[in-house]
Amino acid sequence: MTTPAGAPRRAPRRVHVIGIGAGSPGHVTGQAVAAMREVDVFLVADKGSAKDELVAVRRGICEQFLADGTYQLVTVTDPHRGPDAERDSAAYKAGVDAWHRARADRYAEVVDGLPEGAVVGFLVWGDPAFYDSTIRIVDAIGERTPLAVSVVPGISAIQVLAAEHRIVLNAVGQPVHITTGRRLVDEWHPDLGAVVVMLDGALACRALLDRAPDLVIHWGAYLGLPQQVLRSGRLADVIDELVALRGALRAEHGWVMDTYVLTLPADAPG
Ligand SMILES: C[S@@+](CC[C@H](N)C(=O)[O-])C[C@H]1O[C@@H](n2cnc3c(N)ncnc32)[C@H](O)[C@@H]1O
Repeated sequence: MTTPAGAPRRAPRRVHVIGIGAGSPGHVTGQAVAAMREVDVFLVADKGSAKDELVAVRRGICEQFLADGTYQLVTVTDPHRGPDAERDSAAYKAGVDAWHRARADRYAEVVDGLPEGAVVGFLVWGDPAFYDSTIRIVDAIGERTPLAVSVVPGISAIQVLAAEHRIVLNAVGQPVHITTGRRLVDEWHPDLGAVVVMLDGALACRALLDRAPDLVIHWGAYLGLPQQVLRSGRLADVIDELVALRGALRAEHGWVMDTYVLTLPADAPG
């Protein structure tokens, strides 16, 4: 293949974006394993020591499903991310955009340095479709160097939360709304149905109690991991315990990831 100018044009590099589930090797699907077996080099973001366990889980999944010596796992230091919690929405979005660009630059550099024909893999926590920037970053890398991308779905923390609590998220024929802790208080309305909240570092749901004292919460931390913790109940009854527990877990493990769903009982007033 040649470019119009006569210079050789490289075939697009194959990239697999693979959902690996929320932490348990049991979440890794057959489709994910098949894609992993095609990968030569896995690129894993190194987010600093507190999140070493997230790299270790990915490493463990590779060791469990792949033969030694058939792949490489390369960690790429994550660019510094600004103080999101202190930013308003516009500054938050600009900060995230800049961070994505910086990440894409870094990955593009690594990808360009790989041998021609090497297949690249990204092991995405949960499912790549929920609050994960990998597909966007891979698209941005693709603007810098030609890529042929495939995406494998994974089991999201949302599904694990529902399964571990043995609940259906939606009431019969009703919607499910997925949002972040940052947006919850502005967005919440009974018509949203079940509201799943991710990326909430401060259990923002407490602020809803005045408006909706009957809310019920199903909460889970480290879903699918050995240290998984579940709690549920009337939000008003359990919120103090949850805030204290979340703080204690974070102190114990150095990091915490939790997801919850808020519902109103069918017989709640209004
Ligand atoms: C960057 S998002 C990634 C979501 C992921 N793509 C998914 O499908 O689950 C990170 C958020 O997902 C949730 N999360 C991911 N893994 C979790 C786990 N094992 N237990 C509890 N929450 C989890 C938390 O709300 C966390 O703040």
